[in-house]
Amino acid sequence: MNIILLGPPGAGKGTQAGRLQAERGMVQLSTGDMLRAAVKSGSPAGLKAKAVMEAGELVSDDIVSALIDEKLGTMAADQGAIFDGYPRTAPQAASLDQILTAHGRTLDHVIELEVDEDALVERIVGRYSCASCGTNYHDVFNRPKADGVCDVCGSTEFKRRADDNAETVRTRMAEYRAKTAPILPIYDARKLVHRIDGMADIEHVSDAIEAILEPRA
Ligand code: AP5
Ligand code: MG
Ligand code: ZN
Repeated sequence: MNIILLGPPGAGKGTQAGRLQAERGMVQLSTGDMLRAAVKSGSPAGLKAKAVMEAGELVSDDIVSALIDEKLGTMAADQGAIFDGYPRTAPQAASLDQILTAHGRTLDHVIELEVDEDALVERIVGRYSCASCGTNYHDVFNRPKADGVCDVCGSTEFKRRADDNAETVRTRMAEYRAKTAPILPIYDARKLVHRIDGMADIEHVSDAIEAILEPRA
């Protein structure tokens, strides 16, 4: 199964993709995470992406589509893909169709997380993640079970993203409205879109996604 999670910054794409990966053995393909890894490693793609990401603008379509193609090439045919933060523009949506075909895959569902933009700034400003395994947390909404200790790996080191500040978030949201929201009609026309309430709490959003996906084998 191959699905797209769509929604503005802070909608919960990464949170839900991580849960699906843990619970269903699907693979999260987050172009944001891939780009942050590229920035950290100082690769050519990372060098190009760094300033663009810090400004909250979109990295070039060619770079992100190449990252997705490469990652799908490493996956087993029976591993489902969760596209998190990709595609984000009409050219990326067209590239994804070609890439999926080339890898013998088809798109099953597009899940749009509908959220109230005013609440997203709070989500984003409170977000942090484990420096060791990358698990996401939030100061208020998603705290580790033991204060200061990662639930998954036990690390006590955490980090925050360079683009998670109130000013950059506004640019990221404007980019979403201008370039990403307009791709929904492409998938609507194919009857692939499911809209769910992304303002519900994390468990309820997960339940709504599970209800859309086929039952587990
Ligand atoms: P990317 O990393 O994709 O960031 P984004 O789209 O801005 O989305 P976020 O990761 O901020 O939000 P999310 O929806 O994953 O929310 P999360 O689950 O963390 O992209 C970053 C940058 O990379 C872009 O600006 C661009 O420059 C570049 N880029 C990436 N992909 C690209 C592409 N395809 N093309 C071009 N450029 C690209 O949740 C947020 C917080 O809220 C967390 O703390 C979480 O715990 C909490 N939370 C989640 N769900 C809930 C809930 N239901 N209730 C309460 N709190 C919740
Ligand atoms: Mg994310
Ligand atoms: Zn961890």
